Amino acid sequence: MSVRVELGDRSYDIAIAPGALDRAGELLAPYAARGRFIVVTDKNIVPNQLYRLETSLTAAGIASAVEVLPAGESTKSWKMLERLTDALLAYGVERNDTIIALGGGVIGDLVGFAASILKRGCRFVQVPTTLLSQVDSSVGGKTAINSKAGKNLIGAFYQPAHVLIDPTTLDTLPPRELRAGYAEVIKYGLIDDADFFAWCEANGGRLLAGDPDARTHAITKSVEAKARIVGQDERETSGRRALLNLGHTFGHALEAETGFSDRLLHGEAVAAGMALAFRFSASLGLCPQEDADRVTAHIAAAGLPATLSAAGIDATGKALVAHMMHDKKMEGGQLPFLLARGIGQTYLEKKVDLAKVEAFLDAERG
Ligand code: GLY
Repeated sequence: MSVRVELGDRSYDIAIAPGALDRAGELLAPYAARGRFIVVTDKNIVPNQLYRLETSLTAAGIASAVEVLPAGESTKSWKMLERLTDALLAYGVERNDTIIALGGGVIGDLVGFAASILKRGCRFVQVPTTLLSQVDSSVGGKTAINSKAGKNLIGAFYQPAHVLIDPTTLDTLPPRELRAGYAEVIKYGLIDDADFFAWCEANGGRLLAGDPDARTHAITKSVEAKARIVGQDERETSGRRALLNLGHTFGHALEAETGFSDRLLHGEAVAAGMALAFRFSASLGLCPQEDADRVTAHIAAAGLPATLSAAGIDATGKALVAHMMHDKKMEGGQLPFLLARGIGQTYLEKKVDLAKVEAFLDAERG
């Protein structure tokens, strides 16, 4: 299965196939300038996935140098960016070489950013190994590191040359991380595809339990949706790409409340944020209550938090809205919200009364 991101001379294909990692040598051979790759990964990926990639590259006669970084969000830092760029320069990276990002969103974001600035732009390929990175962060060219002032504040739009997705990498993903990634799958149904949301309601359990067909179908549908949106609005200027932030404004406030710690993973915060966005929309009379109830029920059925208490949050509306004011999407003192007229009918609303958001969150707190 192959999905194309149409971006003129920066267009690229996303290949999705169970077992693709074991055929990476053959599938990625066109990108192996000078018969070699530089692979960047993290310590958690080494035991299960790095060996598969290296074995396949060796079988195809492609040499590889490997840089292994520490796992975790703190790797998206200036310090690690410096370490990585120094290492890549020491390997003698040239603009025509291809750097492979093998891992989750942290590795993809860091390697993509390093590739964007090394020698003013080196080629890179994303080989995402988590559900979240397969359905979201590896596609679309958002690359970044974190700074003291917040997450993803230093970065660039820089598209990969190719994305290779092997759904079997999910077989060894911790269940909590799998569920967190599934939140981003549900998101595509909620944005503009009510049929896909209904598919998720019927098949999400199979996907989470390990069904390979359900996983490949969900990844393909998600990537098709993301590729379409990125092709329409690569740099988030028309409002179309902003739809991908559904649940992220409420979610950001919840993550900030936990100090961006492991108490609440990003996908878990997005799940709760999407449920809150639908219930807020229903409370404003924009969306049928029945749709908000379906969203809440499916998120909870997937083992994801759908309420403030399930997310472990006991904060006032005022405190949560204060966190929202630091959101990087603030525009001239206004915070755009993704609201819904129903399942599959999400839209960007720039004029939301924050007093109403505060009162809604206080009511949700109970
Ligand atoms: N994850 C949101 C985006 O790629 O635009």
